[in-house]
Amino acid sequence: MGQKTSHKITVCTSCKHKGTTCKPGFELIDKLRTAIAQAGDAIPEDFEISGVACMAGCDHPCTVAYYGSHKATYLFGDIDPASDIDDLVDFAKQYAYLHDGWCSSVDRPGKLRKSTLARVPASMIAMELTEEAVH
Ligand code: FES
Repeated sequence: MGQKTSHKITVCTSCKHKGTTCKPGFELIDKLRTAIAQAGDAIPEDFEISGVACMAGCDHPCTVAYYGSHKATYLFGDIDPASDIDDLVDFAKQYAYLHDGWCSSVDRPGKLRKSTLARVPASMIAMELTEEAVH
């Protein structure tokens, strides 16, 4: 049996809409779970969607992270559950097909082109490059 890559999306549940006490992360998780389930086989991998208290992107509510084993990790900011669910679903589709998870900003859907706070290479790739540099 082949090794299955696990894919995860984590949403900050502590982010507040600017100037309010409203925490839209829970709404975002609900909408995203529904939209990903509705996409069905169009997304060729399962995504586990969960919440976390803070991802240190507090000036850019909401923050949303994508990660998978042996894949680059992304942190997106300024995500609004009212308008950005389609872009998140499109990126899940795209991310599932990328074997190392790496893509440039122009290739990301809609708002995610300009709202990327971080793109971190898979640790395995970073270690391989480091080892090559030493030899
Ligand atoms: S409160 Fe959401 S990233 Fe810190």
